[in-house]
Amino acid sequence: MASRAELKLVFFLFSFSLAAAAYVGSYGGHGLGVNYGRVADDLPSPRHSVELLRAAGAGSVKIYDANPGVLRALAGTHWPVSIMVPNEIIPDVAASAAVADRWVAENLVPYYPATRVKFLLVGNEILSDYSIANSTWPRLVPAMENIHLSLRKRGISSVKIGTTLAMDALVDGAFPRPPSAAAFRPDIAESVVRPLLHFLNGTNSYYFVDAYPYFVWSGNNLTVQLDYALFQGGNTRYVDPVTGLTYTNLLDEMLDAVSIAMAKLGYGSVKLAIAETGWPNGCDYDQIGGNVHNAAIYNRNLAARMAKNPGTPLRPGAKMPVFVFSLYNEDLKGGPGTERHWGLYYANGTAVYEIDLTGRRPLSSYPPLPAPENNTPYKGPIWCVMSAAATKKLNETAVGNALTYACGQGNGTCDAIQPGKKCYLPNTTVAHASYAFNSYWQQFRKVGATCYFNNLAEQTIKDPSKCSHTPPAL
Ligand SMILES: *[C@@H]1O[C@H](CO)[C@@H](O)[C@H](O)[C@H]1NC(C)=O
Ligand SMILES: *[C@@H]1O[C@H](CO)[C@@H](O)[C@H](O)[C@H]1NC(C)=O
Ligand SMILES: *[C@@H]1O[C@H](CO)[C@@H](O)[C@H](O)[C@H]1NC(C)=O
Ligand SMILES: *[C@@H]1O[C@H](CO)[C@@H](O)[C@H](O)[C@H]1NC(C)=O
Ligand SMILES: *[C@@H]1O[C@H](CO)[C@@H](O)[C@H](O)[C@H]1NC(C)=O
Ligand SMILES: *[C@@H]1O[C@H](CO)[C@@H](O)[C@H](O)[C@H]1NC(C)=O
Ligand SMILES: *[C@@H]1O[C@H](CO)[C@@H](O)[C@H](O)[C@H]1NC(C)=O
Repeated sequence: MASRAELKLVFFLFSFSLAAAAYVGSYGGHGLGVNYGRVADDLPSPRHSVELLRAAGAGSVKIYDANPGVLRALAGTHWPVSIMVPNEIIPDVAASAAVADRWVAENLVPYYPATRVKFLLVGNEILSDYSIANSTWPRLVPAMENIHLSLRKRGISSVKIGTTLAMDALVDGAFPRPPSAAAFRPDIAESVVRPLLHFLNGTNSYYFVDAYPYFVWSGNNLTVQLDYALFQGGNTRYVDPVTGLTYTNLLDEMLDAVSIAMAKLGYGSVKLAIAETGWPNGCDYDQIGGNVHNAAIYNRNLAARMAKNPGTPLRPGAKMPVFVFSLYNEDLKGGPGTERHWGLYYANGTAVYEIDLTGRRPLSSYPPLPAPENNTPYKGPIWCVMSAAATKKLNETAVGNALTYACGQGNGTCDAIQPGKKCYLPNTTVAHASYAFNSYWQQFRKVGATCYFNNLAEQTIKDPSKCSHTPPAL
């Protein structure tokens, strides 16, 4: 998730290829689905992951590839499974029916139907990645058509083909209010979205949206109430001045915005699925609202609401597949701290909080949650230092590479740690790296650099040393 343009700045640090992530979800009266992503160190095995999914009450699973070990572990679970064609091969799949058929032969056929693949998603948020606008956007629907041909040829009719789109497919996706004003971006509406909707409508498939009330709320925290984003807004209402529809939570506004944008292109009855939603259980000091309390409340309320009252003001009662993001906290994801904190479980398999994704467990029966401590912006100074975990498990090579990178950026970033200069001592990799990370980050955070350094760095609000650049207060 992370339709979040600023994440694209991660490339600043290192070119680090994001691996797969996954999700499992539920629909049609079962538990929510969940995204089972795997961009992390030392995750539980696929078989153990299946047990963890079951313990959470998951009703389906979405993965970001077609990993054989994962697909084998999902065999016999009866969960509907969503698999994905990677963004990189979309042009080839579009160009050749044979390539598309080979992908199906190698990634679906060996596991199906023992593994109940239900959705085959072609690409992940491709319309958020402008670097592939020319190479891949126009190839999306042709690729979906070639995959469709292959499935038809093979007599596979129960697998729906789709693609995931972030809210930034809409003009005002960062805050799509009022929903009645929603429209697709002019750069994609006619060229990509119209043919996509034609395909989805013609195959009775779904528009898969990644919808995060967290980002809408955090970016508009002065306008939107947190409780309204967490499905507990009480009497808080938003009335769309054009449709007159009354909203009681932010997610419904976002979903109806998508439906209305589709209707404006003549496809108002294409079904919706939520490919990703969720709430971070942690975040950096310069972000807000990512904590265990809010994450538990959001996901529990989401499950309860989808079980009892699916649909939105515009589409009352309409059931939709929903996949929560994500099964695990994924420590190898770059970007701001939220990116590594969406899990129902830590990477060691411990639950972050109790949850019943079937939505049947009464909310009052859960044990008390830790109080949220970052629901309003932190205003003090913040530093970027070697993380405690990276210091404990010191990898001199990795830290040395990061140090060299940081010192090569900006102006005089590492002058003070040169021999004889005031911060040379202590002459250790850890001390020098902490100095360099902080010096780099204080220079570049305004343009979107994050304190990550391939999982070696973290933010702190404790002045790390007399040699720290003292950052300006926010
Ligand atoms: C896409 O093509 C346009 C028009 O030829 C060009 O201006 C633009 O730079 C290209 N974008 C990329 C990312 O290659
Ligand atoms: C969508 O599909 C339905 C059912 O096949 C069809 O009646 C309708 O004309 C289609 N809509 C558009 C805009 O093509
Ligand atoms: C809070 O919202 C304001 C605008 O409403 C935005 O400028 C600011 O960045 C938000 N704060 C955080 C921490 O996201
Ligand atoms: C798993 O990791 C979390 C977060 O780091 C930690 O709080 C918890 O104690 C760990 N659980 C076990 C069993 O090690
Ligand atoms: C240490 O870091 C280097 C460079 O990133 C990497 O190739 C190597 O596998 C790492 N070693 C260990 C033990 O993780
Ligand atoms: C480094 O100095 C140059 C020239 O003074 C300036 O243009 C540039 O913005 C500076 N870079 C940073 C990161 O401060
Ligand atoms: C600093 O550390 C490096 C690497 O451990 C060592 O080679 C060098 O002699 C040290 N310099 C001083 C002045 O201690």
